[in-house]
Amino acid sequence: MTATATEPPKPRRMGQRILGSGLLDLLAGPPGVDGYLEQIRPAWGVQDRRAEVIAADRRTPDAVTLALRANLAWEGFESGQFVQVAVEIDGSRRTRSYSLASAAGPGRTLELTVKAHPEGLVSNFLVENARPGMVLGLGPAEGDFRIPLERPERLLLISAGSGITPVMSMLRTLCAEDHNGSITFLHYAPDPGRAIYRDELEQIAAVHPNVRLVRSYTRAPGAGEADGHFSRSQLAEIDPGYAAAETFACGPPALLDALREAWGAEDLELRLHLESFVSSTLAPASGVPEGSIHFANSGVRIENSGAVLLEQAESAGLSPASGCRMGICHTCCCRKTAGTVRNLSTGQLSSNDAEEIQICISAPVGDVVVDL
Ligand code: FES
Repeated sequence: MTATATEPPKPRRMGQRILGSGLLDLLAGPPGVDGYLEQIRPAWGVQDRRAEVIAADRRTPDAVTLALRANLAWEGFESGQFVQVAVEIDGSRRTRSYSLASAAGPGRTLELTVKAHPEGLVSNFLVENARPGMVLGLGPAEGDFRIPLERPERLLLISAGSGITPVMSMLRTLCAEDHNGSITFLHYAPDPGRAIYRDELEQIAAVHPNVRLVRSYTRAPGAGEADGHFSRSQLAEIDPGYAAAETFACGPPALLDALREAWGAEDLELRLHLESFVSSTLAPASGVPEGSIHFANSGVRIENSGAVLLEQAESAGLSPASGCRMGICHTCCCRKTAGTVRNLSTGQLSSNDAEEIQICISAPVGDVVVDL
């Protein structure tokens, strides 16, 4: 039911409004309401979004699935969206974006899965250290990758690796709503041992006859319902009616490029909705990284490691502004004044001397100078 102007405020919302009001903050004095609540329990703030870890489940060797309880400042999300998660590491606040995997709804219990990778400062920290009681900062839910409120009759959900989290949220949301349209869930993982949510997906498919589960284990042929990487012929076998479906896919750039090509070849782009995650450790296409990076405003010069400029700047002790770290929010834009960078999202090289670049998805190719 939707609240109307004549309805009395619900008790929890009213309490939230009172606790979150500027007037009470004024009366509370310099620490503010959040300051006092924090001293009782860090997750209890009502003005800054925070969440307490209530479970940390390590289902695969290189990932942790976190169950979180958000505080009263959390406004909710739509399935498929992501949030920025903040943690303090060695005295510095670090933020990274993670897609939520839980079913969307009014509740404050959230789930996200974090996968370790060689230079993933925050990811590795959470995979190693997250435990019940830890408090994380949260941003608001963001992103346009979400299923329409008028649910499509036919859906194809495609993911690879940890790209499964936003489409898992979509699947859980649809199942919680008893959506009875046809859903094909196609997931790529190296082998069954590294397939996040494997057991739950099987349980969902067992009790929801409208959900068809297809796994392709790229390094374990024969272990899933399909084999190998995505191709148009594989798609035609798995879901011959895919052209009639709304398709939502999340995965690395190579998978998304292949999907764009397949849907583009049949003028079906409007039915394809994509979310990319970019590994910040991708090396430039030429292989061994070369050249040096000059952060002109700071007077810092370093050897190019091949990682994206944002990671390299942070490794050099700088703290550039950043948000989503995957090319969506534009918080990290800064001016490059010389050199060539590769956009890891599109693969394109850019050599203009004075241009704005997103340093979270731009890897230097040779010598580069940026205004940082
Ligand atoms: S941090 Fe969001 S686009 Fe770079």
